[in-house]
This record gives sequence, structure tokens and C-alpha cells, in this order.
Amino acid sequence: MTEGMVAKGLQDVVVDDTWICKIIGDVGKLYYYGYSIHDLAEKCSYEEVVFLLLKGKLPNKTELEQVTGDLKQARGLPKEVTDVIRGAPKGSIPMDVLRTAASALALTDAKPNDDSPEGRYRKAIRMVALFPEIVAADYRLRRGEQPVAANPKLNHAANFLYLLHGKEPGADAARTMDVALVLHAEHDFNASTFTARVIAATMSDMYSAITGAVGALKGPLHGGANEGVIKTLLEIGEPAKIKPWLTEKFKEKNFRLMGFGHRVYKTLDPRAIVLKKYSKKTGEERGTTKWYEMSNEIEGMMKGREKPLYPNVDFYSASTYFMMGLPPEIYTPIFAVARVVGWCAHVIEQQTHNRLIRPAAEYHGEIDKPFVEIGAR
Ligand code: CMC
Repeated sequence: MTEGMVAKGLQDVVVDDTWICKIIGDVGKLYYYGYSIHDLAEKCSYEEVVFLLLKGKLPNKTELEQVTGDLKQARGLPKEVTDVIRGAPKGSIPMDVLRTAASALALTDAKPNDDSPEGRYRKAIRMVALFPEIVAADYRLRRGEQPVAANPKLNHAANFLYLLHGKEPGADAARTMDVALVLHAEHDFNASTFTARVIAATMSDMYSAITGAVGALKGPLHGGANEGVIKTLLEIGEPAKIKPWLTEKFKEKNFRLMGFGHRVYKTLDPRAIVLKKYSKKTGEERGTTKWYEMSNEIEGMMKGREKPLYPNVDFYSASTYFMMGLPPEIYTPIFAVARVVGWCAHVIEQQTHNRLIRPAAEYHGEIDKPFVEIGAR
């Protein structure tokens, strides 16, 4: 073994230039095109962030109307894609359905390989517009309900909730979803985005890159953690059981507490700070802050450990969504609904300044072994 020669997990390896996103992990800062995530979450709609990530600047009023119109225009899931969702075997995992449907979107695009700037923008807008429809159609079908058509009066976040529940959401729920989408929209070279960039760097098409990214996001060490968080909270069940539960679990080898830790943040994830407020607020609106209180207590205990662990974006999104009446299996798909724009922005950036991504590996096996014919092995 040549220990120390490899950058295991590519930690701290700078693989490319980017202009889209900056994380300062030591102090918990996050910027999209230079704008602080706190300003974006408090003052922007998801549509503004879509424009920012795809065009590199905040939209003025006319540009915002334009991008909002483009997103509405792109709504309406092709029947072929709805049929793919309908045809998924009972019990399929929602992220698997989303991954398959994302791939099927390419088949219903007349110009899936149009890599002109206009073509790339159109494909990105199309995927941003249709991801909520895929997730919602699957959500409703597995409950024995028919998908509903988009509501042209509603913005992206409110329409997503409308697509899920078949009725207009209240203003608080719509705003909470809008903030959640903004917070999850982009996060530099995370695993799913890097996956998208690796695929894009072969000059394959945007649909292939995004389909791969959905697959990467599904993993419990990445976007799948939010589902794990709510399962943990439900398993613990009561505030009094937190301490004994954690004590027992941390005795297990390789135990990972979902929603804690991060490769880049060495302190609080700024997105968790915002979502913590929404977890509390949503709990108060729904008449129970139990899941927020439990989350807060777990956060305190983890921060107080000899080796402190801090909550990441997935920790407080889980209790927020749960309080919004959303079931756990949909939490990672919601992450994808938000992140698809970030992936598209990175695919465009990668292909604009492209070089094939092809790293090297440290080989530990033998070479020049004498070949043995099959009968002699
Ligand atoms: N629970 C328990 N121990 C942890 C955790 C955790 N959640 N996170 C890190 N550690 C420990 C780990 O055991 C290791 O300890 P030691 O040095 O004694 O061996 C140390 O902290 C460093 O861990 P690592 O695995 O080298 O760190 P990493 O940068 O490779 O992992 C991570 C980052 C996110 C995969 C990890 O923190 C983790 O597994 N967290 C739980 C899953 C999770 O919440 N993922 C969501 C990430 S944020 C949303 C997103 O973008 O995906």
C-alpha cells in the first residue's frame, strides 16, 4: 500500500474553476454567484434563483417575468413520461422513479442534443419545470390518486404543493417550500453535481448528466440523509429517549447520525440555520413543536461532544417537511426538485469550458503475471 499518495474521496482536491457557487466551510458561509444564501433565502423566490444560476445575475423585473413565463410554458408532463411513472412496479422507490422519468424526458424532447446556448437554457428550464410534476405524479399515483395539471396562477413552489395535494397551499406552506427550494438549489462540487459534470465533460447530453446526478443524490450519505433524519426522530419518538438512544447508537461501529457532519462545513451549515427557523415556525403553525424541540436537543448534544458534529441542510428540513404533512419518502425527491437547476448550471459551465474529467488511481495489484490457460487454472 502506498499510504498518503491518494486523495481518498477527493477531499480538498481542486478539480476545476467555477463561477457559480462558493462555500467557506470554516465559517459556514455559502454564496450563489456572490450572493449570501441568507439574503437569497429571505429575499428571493426560487424563480429568481433559477435565473441567477442559469444566467449568472439576479433578474430585473422584466427578466423575472420572462423566466417565470418560461417555467410556466414548460409545464405539462408528456404522456409518455407519465406512463413510465404509471408503469413503475408497486413499491418502487420514489428516487428510482424520478431517475427513470428524468431519463425518459430526453425521449420526449425533439432536440435533446441541442447544445446552443438557447438549447441548453431551454432544456434546463424544461427539467426545472417538470421535476416537480414527475415527483408529484408519482406521489399521487402511489396513493391511488390521479396526477393533477399544473395551476397557472401559482409560482413554482406553490404549484409544487398544489401538484402534490391537488389543492392550493396556504401562504405559509408555499413560502416555506420556496425557501427550502432556494436553500437546496446549489452547492458547488458536491457528489451529485460532480457526477453531472463528469457526464457532461464527455460531451454527452444534459438529460444523461441530470439522470446520473439523481442517482448520486439518492445515497444516504448525500441527499438521502433527510429521509434518514425523520426516521431517526420517529424511532427515538420521545425527548426522554434521545440520550439513551444516541448513547447506544454511538457504541455501534461506523454508526452515522443522519443530518450531521459535512465534508466542507466545519461548523454550522448556514442552510441549517435558516431551516431551523422554519422547522420551529412550521411546528408552531401546526400546533406541535415536538419534532423541532427534539431536533434542537440532538443538535445541542452533538455540538457538546468531544469531537463536535454540526447539523447539515438535511437535519432541519426533515422536521420542517414532516410538519408540512409530507411523508418521508418524498424528502429526497424534493431535494432533487430544488437541485436540478444547480446541476443544469454546472453542466452548462462544464461544457462551456470543457476538458474530459479523467482522474488517475493508485494501483496496488501485480503486473506482468504469467497467463494461465483456462484448463490449467
Ligand atoms: N455521525 C457520526 N459520525 C460522523 C458523522 C455522522 N453523521 N459524520 C462524520 N462523522 C465522523 C466519522 O465517523 C469520522 O470519525 P473518525 O475521524 O473518528 O473516523 C469523522 O467524523 C470524519 O468523517 P468522514 O466520513 O471522514 O467525513 P466525510 O467528509 O467523508 O463525510 C458525510 C461527510 C456527510 C458523508 C458524513 O458527515 C456523514 O456520513 N453524515 C451523515 C449523512 C448526512 O447527513 N449526509 C448529508 C450531507 S449534507 C447534504 C448533502 O449535500 O448531501
